[in-house]
Amino acid sequence: MAKDTLTITDNRTGEIYEVPISYGTYPEYGAAIPAAELRKIKVSENDFGLITYDPGYTNTGSCKSNITFVDGQRGLLRYRGYPIDQLAEKSTYLEISYLLLNGERPNQEELNDWIDNITMRTMLNESIKKVIDAFHYDAHPMGILVSTLGVLSTFYPKAKEIFNEESRTRQIWRLIAKMPTIAAYAYRHQRGLPYVLPDNDLSYTGNFLNMLFKVTEQKYEPDPVLERALDVLFILHADHEQNCSTSVMRNVGSSQSDPYVAVAGAAAALYGPLHGGANQRVKEMLDEIGSPDCVVDYVDKTLAAKKRIMGFGHRVYRVEDPRGRHLKAHAEKLQDEGDPMMLETSARLIEVMHQRKGLSINVDFYSASLYTYLRLPPDLFPNLFAISRIAGWAAHILEQYADNQLIRPRSEYRGPGQRRYRPLGER
Ligand code: CMC
Repeated sequence: MAKDTLTITDNRTGEIYEVPISYGTYPEYGAAIPAAELRKIKVSENDFGLITYDPGYTNTGSCKSNITFVDGQRGLLRYRGYPIDQLAEKSTYLEISYLLLNGERPNQEELNDWIDNITMRTMLNESIKKVIDAFHYDAHPMGILVSTLGVLSTFYPKAKEIFNEESRTRQIWRLIAKMPTIAAYAYRHQRGLPYVLPDNDLSYTGNFLNMLFKVTEQKYEPDPVLERALDVLFILHADHEQNCSTSVMRNVGSSQSDPYVAVAGAAAALYGPLHGGANQRVKEMLDEIGSPDCVVDYVDKTLAAKKRIMGFGHRVYRVEDPRGRHLKAHAEKLQDEGDPMMLETSARLIEVMHQRKGLSINVDFYSASLYTYLRLPPDLFPNLFAISRIAGWAAHILEQYADNQLIRPRSEYRGPGQRRYRPLGER
């Protein structure tokens, strides 16, 4: 009879070990063995036991999670069981943030309370504005965001009470509320523009556009098409399982640090060009290519130089990233807002990359065009990713706090063996 175990023979000793196999919600999409079981596999009493070696965590389950399911073979993404396609078409970002954090979709009253609790916390303390003021005019907005998130920890010392549910919830409302304000103020600071107070009559994304773009008008009226496109962008980026930045969020939280410093760490991880910084690089690359005729030459030269084509490839997806088609559809709707050639160049790039490398686009590819059509500057793109990912990061740190174990991997030591210490004069 089939048993849910794995039998391992250690050929060094001839010992046989039986290791249990466990399954998640979808047994057909993968199973796991507990790595700690391998510790029992030893050649002597003093041996630490076998460890798994997986430097990029390419095949390591770092936690059990109820939040997001990704099937990279079939291109599926579900938040709390709901397919991303349905959420992107029918929902709003704040509803999705409730879903990710609470596990269920809210009823109308719960949603109203959730929105109120976030909306009333969008303002920044005047001293935090002074922190933003202190940055040089050409500071990258992501550098400002990362630093200001760390600063929030010092303004809300109660955040350290991570086992106090009421305090935890309050910090999460604040984080969701204040991320757009910090990003908008970083944008305005760069341009020497006065900061715009949040307008609580507007939606989450409508208010963000207000804080970015309001000039002298009495009341900023967001364009509903742009407002919805930004909301869809935020939904699509809201969570993505144990990606690099979410893993950092959990790592920092595992030492029982407060959510603000953990988010600062997560945002720092997101900033890099292999992760959330890729969207800015995609725009820079499309500008450099210029037109569809120049794609082949650009791709061939870049690949020959062993460099990456930004916005392509993914650690998990082996087929097209399911978020790409929604981003493309919204970019097509808005192409008259900017240079429509960008989408023609993008389409040609997809074709050529498929021929040359068999690689598909990831979420950062069409988000770059869409942000551009929303008239957002490229160096703000990673901030936009960070704003939307706050819901996922927060949901993951709550799971981490609830079932915590300090995250502390091992290394396969390859340094010198034991050496005798020689005093300075003898060296
Ligand atoms: N351009 C050219 N070659 C690529 C690319 C790319 N964008 N992506 C992967 N490859 C090649 C890579 O050179 C390697 O080839 P070979 O086996 O011949 O050496 C192979 O594909 C496997 O690449 P890998 O780096 O070992 O795979 P990975 O799972 O570590 O990479 C990745 C994932 C996202 C870091 C990578 O695809 C990449 O660098 N993409 C460009 C940056 C990018 O768009 N990042 C956004 C990631 S998705 C959203 C997010 O998380 O923010």
